[in-house]
Amino acid sequence: MRGMRSSSSSLVAAAALLLFCCFTTGHANGGGLRLGYYSASCPRAEDIVREQVVQLYDKHGNTAVSWLRALFHDCMVGSCDASLLLDTSAAAGVSEKSAPRSFGMRNFKYVDAIKAALERECPGTVSCADVLALAARDGAAALGGPRVAMRTGRRDSRASRYAEVGRDIPNHNDSVSAVLSRFAAVGVDAEGAVALLGAHSVGRVHCFNLVGRLYPSVDAGMEPAYGAYLRGRCPTADAREDTRDVAYARNDRATPMVLDNMYHKNLLARRGLLLVDQRLADDPRTAPFVARMAADNAYFHDRFAAALLTMSENNPLAADEGEVRRDCRFVNSA
Ligand code: HEM
Ligand SMILES: *[C@@H]1O[C@H](CO)[C@@H](O)[C@H](O)[C@H]1NC(C)=O
Repeated sequence: MRGMRSSSSSLVAAAALLLFCCFTTGHANGGGLRLGYYSASCPRAEDIVREQVVQLYDKHGNTAVSWLRALFHDCMVGSCDASLLLDTSAAAGVSEKSAPRSFGMRNFKYVDAIKAALERECPGTVSCADVLALAARDGAAALGGPRVAMRTGRRDSRASRYAEVGRDIPNHNDSVSAVLSRFAAVGVDAEGAVALLGAHSVGRVHCFNLVGRLYPSVDAGMEPAYGAYLRGRCPTADAREDTRDVAYARNDRATPMVLDNMYHKNLLARRGLLLVDQRLADDPRTAPFVARMAADNAYFHDRFAAALLTMSENNPLAADEGEVRRDCRFVNSA
């Protein structure tokens, strides 16, 4: 579903919203969210986000990639509440962006650009948590992925959740059981998890997260030719956990900027990049979904859209919790 284009279509959207509200009471997740939450308070909010995401994508394509990872890291840790975006401060605590699991995250300065465009039009109205959700939605579309009808009305946290990050964001070498239980905690089932990991069809991985599979010998579960290629990308075993260590590899060398099922095809060919990626193709709980998504891109897109929506509605803050941050990096002063 597309965002609203004009005031006439916003009337239609408002009518749809009235109908919609009456069938969506009592959700444990997303209870306070609705389609077109800003249709009265900031009618162009969703248009502005989409325009910014598209402009940024045209200049720096990898921004769209970043929005997908950012939503995962925000929503998986407690709540979709933009706690991820807070800089370290006395009021908010240590930034989640500085946690080891956030290694390699980038483009946060461009979130500020999207938020600034919203603040110019409707000061203090659109939450940073909704910016993250809508940017991920529009980023997925820019990358050739599915369109997702996202609800809005999320509120922003007043504190970082730094201490929860290592527990809630899976590691590159976690077991399938650990991964499935983390996704189950936000309402995403095994099929949804296999779809969401398809986000690794775009973007990069630093050698630090790969060398364990390459040295002293190439992981027996990896296609040998792919192992040789990755050793070329990551020539030494001692890659550092430092983004200045610029060596990285892509999961999907064929279509690295397209959100497609090449990820799942690669898993079947034993060209999974992270250990956790490859494990999805081997575990009986996830392998059937890998095979089905590899065979059918439309099916992958359909399941990805559904799972992204579910993840994006994890435990939103209630109306009396949190705030609408004016600057996504800092809590509003009292
Ligand atoms: C088991 C779950 C997951 C694990 C363990 C995981 C882990 C990782 C790791 C280690 C990287 C590379 C970081 C680096 O070296 O720079 C990465 C990148 C990425 N992840 Fe995940 N991830 C998971 C799930 C997800 C999900 C659900 C999404 C989104 C829906 C996602 C989106 C991305 C994207 C887009 C990148 C590339 C970022 C860039 O190029 O800047 N990941 N992930
Ligand atoms: C996973 O990788 C990290 C380094 O990124 C390492 O410290 C840890 O021991 C590994 N865990 C397992 C279970 O292999």
